[in-house]
Amino acid sequence: MQKLVISGEKKISGEISVQGAKNSALPLLAGCVLARGETVLHNCPRLSDVFASTRILTHLGFRCRREGDSVIISSDTISRSDIPEELMREMRSSIVFLGAIIGRCGKCCLSFPGGCELGPRPIDMHISALKQMGVSICEEYGVLCCEAQKGIHGAKITLSFPSVGATENIMMAAVLAKGETVIRNAAREPEICDLAEFLNACGGRVYGAGTSTITISGVNELRGCEHRVMSDRIVCATYLGAAAITGGEVNVRGARPEDIEAILSVFEEMGCCVYPYRDSIYMSCHKPLRSVKTIRTMPYPGFPTDAQSIMLAVLSKAKGTSVMVENIFESRYRQVGELVRMGCMIKTEGKVAIIEGVKKLYGARVVATDLRGGAALVLAGLSAQGETVISNIKLIDRGYESIENALSSIGADIRRVTEGF
Ligand code: EPZ
Repeated sequence: MQKLVISGEKKISGEISVQGAKNSALPLLAGCVLARGETVLHNCPRLSDVFASTRILTHLGFRCRREGDSVIISSDTISRSDIPEELMREMRSSIVFLGAIIGRCGKCCLSFPGGCELGPRPIDMHISALKQMGVSICEEYGVLCCEAQKGIHGAKITLSFPSVGATENIMMAAVLAKGETVIRNAAREPEICDLAEFLNACGGRVYGAGTSTITISGVNELRGCEHRVMSDRIVCATYLGAAAITGGEVNVRGARPEDIEAILSVFEEMGCCVYPYRDSIYMSCHKPLRSVKTIRTMPYPGFPTDAQSIMLAVLSKAKGTSVMVENIFESRYRQVGELVRMGCMIKTEGKVAIIEGVKKLYGARVVATDLRGGAALVLAGLSAQGETVISNIKLIDRGYESIENALSSIGADIRRVTEGF
């Protein structure tokens, strides 16, 4: 089994390029289902979730190949419209294929996506929106069978919560539908804008992405295009967190400051010096970190839930008491127990986590419980005295392209080993 071994107390220092965004690449790969001909996605990260998505595309009859940082997907016909359980179970976010397959074929059968480490991942908003667009949905024995007997038609949809996945599924179901679809209370994340840009480059008519009202006018056909995946704003935040927790400095190339303003303001409140440029962010953290009174995770442009675990680790080294309120997922503090084993002083009560800053963290053998929690353990290990061994790192590989090579390039002592069976 592979593990990460970190020898801590090394200051992060240097320059690093940030990978393409997992949470953009996945919906973009699903979006390829809608387009005839060849699509090229540049800056597509090498991640297990991306590989799982290309396996789904292959299952559907598409040809996929990687050439360096680009993934090329081509097909003129889609040979089937179902996703089998084993492929659905590999990656919870496979649900984002639902809208694209229905949009292209008018029907889709897939097994209900399981929950994940963050708790149950309901899809009620996805289902209710598709029903408003003329899709009949029946669920039997964990399989969701959807069909639009009379074709998909536009609808006016108001989301009860600005769900990222539901917004993406509606956009992809609507882009080839008859008539106009309006999504109110749509998610405003940068990944939504990236998807809209891709769909429009394929010939779609999507307006208002990035605002809470998105309008999609259905067209007859989409053709493949070339598109560059946006940079990963959470991986960028992770590299900045590595500099903060070790009292170092880092220049993150390819980063878009406007995507993580809420995170940058927290680093500044902690006493880090942040220098945002057009497509890079330099941050130096040579002063002792200060605690932050309260951080609330919110839909974009608020503080992103995906940066919550990372910030718990960094705040553990800040002088004073900080408070985190997790408003998006119901169980996103599962990593706290392992962080406490490393000397963090974090207490959770429902949505709230109280973080007491400590002078020192200590290396330990710990287990990643989810993707971003695993990244938090890495950051804690970078700062800790002694050696940290992290197992279950396949969860980290879902979202970070070779995290050990990336962090080693900016001064960390971290390596991947294979231990035991
Ligand atoms: C996306 O998940 C991201 N995943 C998540 O990143 C991210 O944390 C999340 O958006 C919020 O920003 C991808 O993009 C692949 P949601 P998604 O629908 O679309 C509830 C990571 O670490 N909800 O905005 O699933 C839901 O349970 C991952 O990279 C319903 O109740 O998130 C959650 O509490 C983790 N019913 C909240 O809304 C629904 O029909 C936000 O979910 C849909 C969602």
